[in-house]
Amino acid sequence: MQKIFQTNAELKDWLSEQNSAIIFIPTMGGLHLGHQYLIEKAKERKTKKNQIILVSIFVNPLQFGKDEDFKKYPRNIKKDAELAFNAGADAIWAPDYFEVFPGGENSHFKIKVPQTLQNQLCGAERAGHFDGVATVIIRLIRIIRPEKIILGEKDWQQLIIIRKLFQELSIPIQIESYSTQRDQSGFAYSSRNSYLSNSERVNAKSLPHALKEAKIEFDKEKAINLAKIASRLKENNLKIEYLKIVDPFSLKETENINGLCLLAAAVKCGSTRLIDHTFLMQRKPIIAIDGPAGAGKSTVTQAFAKKLGLIYLDTGAMYRAVTWLIISNSIDLNDQAKIKNILKDSELEFKNSSFFEQKIFINNIDVSEKIRSPQVTSMVSEIAKQQFVRELLTRKQQVIGNNGGLVAEGRDIGTAVFPDADVKIFLTASPTERAKRRAIDLKKRGYEFSSIEDLEQEIKERDKKDSERTIAPLKKAQDAIELVTDGMNIEDVLKELVYIFRSKIPEEVWPTPNL
Ligand code: CDP
Repeated sequence: MQKIFQTNAELKDWLSEQNSAIIFIPTMGGLHLGHQYLIEKAKERKTKKNQIILVSIFVNPLQFGKDEDFKKYPRNIKKDAELAFNAGADAIWAPDYFEVFPGGENSHFKIKVPQTLQNQLCGAERAGHFDGVATVIIRLIRIIRPEKIILGEKDWQQLIIIRKLFQELSIPIQIESYSTQRDQSGFAYSSRNSYLSNSERVNAKSLPHALKEAKIEFDKEKAINLAKIASRLKENNLKIEYLKIVDPFSLKETENINGLCLLAAAVKCGSTRLIDHTFLMQRKPIIAIDGPAGAGKSTVTQAFAKKLGLIYLDTGAMYRAVTWLIISNSIDLNDQAKIKNILKDSELEFKNSSFFEQKIFINNIDVSEKIRSPQVTSMVSEIAKQQFVRELLTRKQQVIGNNGGLVAEGRDIGTAVFPDADVKIFLTASPTERAKRRAIDLKKRGYEFSSIEDLEQEIKERDKKDSERTIAPLKKAQDAIELVTDGMNIEDVLKELVYIFRSKIPEEVWPTPNL
């Protein structure tokens, strides 16, 4: 195909002929290997035959301050087109100002980015910059109507603002982000690098080097010395605009370095402004997936963990195994002293028969299948509400998750077990849908059941018990994302989980393979 369009009319005619879903990569031109990576990723991510990759090149005047480099910003459409097409773009759209703002910018709506986001990091010195970015992205997507947008993580603040904008305006376009690309010395590609003289380039490299060193030190010492980074930058004649540790989503400065943090900097090297960052994280990511009975958590959580190379923790299986032990020792469900006694000396462990297949053992007995019996199912919530049982299993789960790198599913993961999980998802479905899924599961396992209506009733009762118990009840954590899975198949849910994960964990921290 390889088309370059200048006018919206030409572009629209062509798009309507294609009848395609568009993966859109908005740029300001001056394309480099960072853009190339985004286009290549878009190509890898093409899942359907009719998807096309459209790259826009528009130097947006609204995002430049009056003393900034709008006039000298690199413009070389021939070179840009060559790079984009070689990387896999199907078409380029390079509109002029009046194609994007037909009546001039003052005759169109403008977006005002909330002060809380605008005033942080780059926005503090670049008044109106992100308003300009947000306004133009809305103009562009209005014309193109893409299915997906691909953005780089290098401009992290921009990415966060655009995500928030789409979320608040309920714009149903997926945003995917990819990591900052660097040359061999670690220097991040940027269109503005072309302004640097050779000697400035040497100085400029101290920015990524200082950040990288700080990260290495952080991984060892769990502390960051901003003054040390600052003096290294100054020694190299870099003028610091900001150097901060911020929460990656609110972008506010933070001293809490337990969760994911962003160490971000902007400097002036001669007259060129450069930004760079690194993410800090004390442990690998933790993903909490909670939800009611039969929401399909186990199937998708296992597949999700495998996809991401994370440990899978089925906490329900732990409550079920304990319940099985109590039943098989004919202990009365309300006899707390006996329950305490038997559990105190019992050993509960997971063993992997393969990466995908996890077995659960209690006192060296493989109970993986036995715990799925209707008898265990009907009694587990009575056991799971007991304080001693909860404390014991919660502690065990926290030990397993100590270094992170796991996906845990259950009822209270995001609220009680790992309240500082990086990603919290509340997975649910209507009781009818859940009963249907449970019926299929029971049939597969060879268990009898009377009717789907009875299963629905049983599910509702268990939901009630799990939600009404006093200790760690089933409830959506306030910061969890709810996913209602009615009508979605496993692949759909999995894709959605990966998408949510990617909106919380940058590719720079944990790369995600293709679905
Ligand atoms: O697979 P299903 O949806 O039936 O449930 P499960 O995840 O196997 O959990 C079985 C039961 O264990 C739940 O109904 C809860 O009573 C209990 N449970 C809990 O209390 N806390 C957890 N974190 C996980 C399960």
